[in-house]
Amino acid sequence: MRTFRLAIPSLLALTSIVGCGGAEDPNETGPTNATEPTYYKDIAPIVNRECAGCHQAGGIGNFSLTDAAIAAQMAPAMAAATHARTMPPMPVNNDGSCQTFENARWLTDEQIALFQSWSKAGAPLGDPADAPPPPEAKGPTLAGDVLQFDLGVDYTPKPPADKPDDYHCFIVDPGIGADVFITGYDIQPGDGRIVHHVALFALPDAQAEADAAVLDAAEEGAGYTCFGGAGTNAVSLVGSWIPGSGASVFPEGTGIRYAAGRKMVVQMHYNVPATGGPFTDRSTMKLQFSKDPALKPALFLSTGAPQISLPPGQEVAEAKGELPLSLLAQYFNLPDFNGIRVWGVLPHMHTAGRTLRSKATTTQGAEQCITDVDRWDFHWQNLWWNETPFDVSADSTISVTCGYDTRGRTETTVMGEGTSDEMCVNVLYATLY
Ligand code: HEC
Repeated sequence: MRTFRLAIPSLLALTSIVGCGGAEDPNETGPTNATEPTYYKDIAPIVNRECAGCHQAGGIGNFSLTDAAIAAQMAPAMAAATHARTMPPMPVNNDGSCQTFENARWLTDEQIALFQSWSKAGAPLGDPADAPPPPEAKGPTLAGDVLQFDLGVDYTPKPPADKPDDYHCFIVDPGIGADVFITGYDIQPGDGRIVHHVALFALPDAQAEADAAVLDAAEEGAGYTCFGGAGTNAVSLVGSWIPGSGASVFPEGTGIRYAAGRKMVVQMHYNVPATGGPFTDRSTMKLQFSKDPALKPALFLSTGAPQISLPPGQEVAEAKGELPLSLLAQYFNLPDFNGIRVWGVLPHMHTAGRTLRSKATTTQGAEQCITDVDRWDFHWQNLWWNETPFDVSADSTISVTCGYDTRGRTETTVMGEGTSDEMCVNVLYATLY
């Protein structure tokens, strides 16, 4: 008991000595300064959690930041990219002013400051004994009923001349023999160096399947070129994946209905380096499913602008759309409709997109912020899961406003699936309540 009481003041004293030492002599830098951040002690733990999903050997991130020597060389670039919040890539604001997300790739201000001070100090590596354990895969894992399929072919991406990106859609049969709920998914890239993002779409009926087959037949080889989505809008979203995100499991007690025997479109975004290779991919998809009739069916509810017409040469051109939830009640014929619960969001625009803001407003004028995309990047779309799901009442109207930069364009930009067309969509993972 006595030693315990003594230990507390001495520990406090030690902390304050270390703290004061730094404050009194701010010029004291160099390898012996105990307060100076080092790679192994301070940077590697952040890298393992927030960067290694892409920046490790064989990953999409071009260079490995788990390699201390490479990281030291990249220190100024890491400081700049984290400060600008372009890395880790997350186009949706997670600062708390408009929702926060469970799978956010969002550094704290303190972590950003660490990258700065480490770079300023000359990127010291420190003591390898301080190194954290190797990076672990993030997020949940699939469990229960899981089925697996792949692209069906070994595909060699063929980006157009001078461009690194090939957006390619494959029609696959996941082999779902009964009506089920999809409750999660995971993707294993065939070649992690080139698989930049993957989107899964269900072909919900025979007509949708026929539409996709026409696109497939019009192009030689397996699959067909597609850009912003599956190339046909008769599809319904099942999931979206980017490297390092691990498996996605839908919120507990919910699932997406999937009809027996229906095919799927897998949209692959390949980003192919100019050198290296050869690059051939056969990515594998896993679907977690359930037949539990008690699950609450969720929808990927598309909100956004029904039409787009953006004049060229504008720093900020806008598209807007509104969805009164009462329309939803009519559409689904729901007499007892109270509103929706929002569990996750997937904003979507094309390359001229810069911002997307969505909110819900009740008839009394009460507002709820749904999504704030303040630095859109077409390359980094994902499904972001709300840390706290929230309800939007039946008397609300959801509005979505998208901002675009059309200064590089000479023609009016309209809505469509092509590379020079645009979209203004915020897909909500929602259940009715
Ligand atoms: C989801 C994948 C992913 C994650 C996570 C990620 N990066 Fe990147 N990073 C990339 C890719 C891909 C590139 C290549 C350029 C591009 O496509 O944007 C890149 C480029 C960079 C660059 C080059 C300069 C630049 O800004 O383009 C730096 C520096 C960088 N990343 C640092 C980081 C750091 C530090 C972290 C973690 C705190 C991180 N990245 C997390 C994928 C990722």
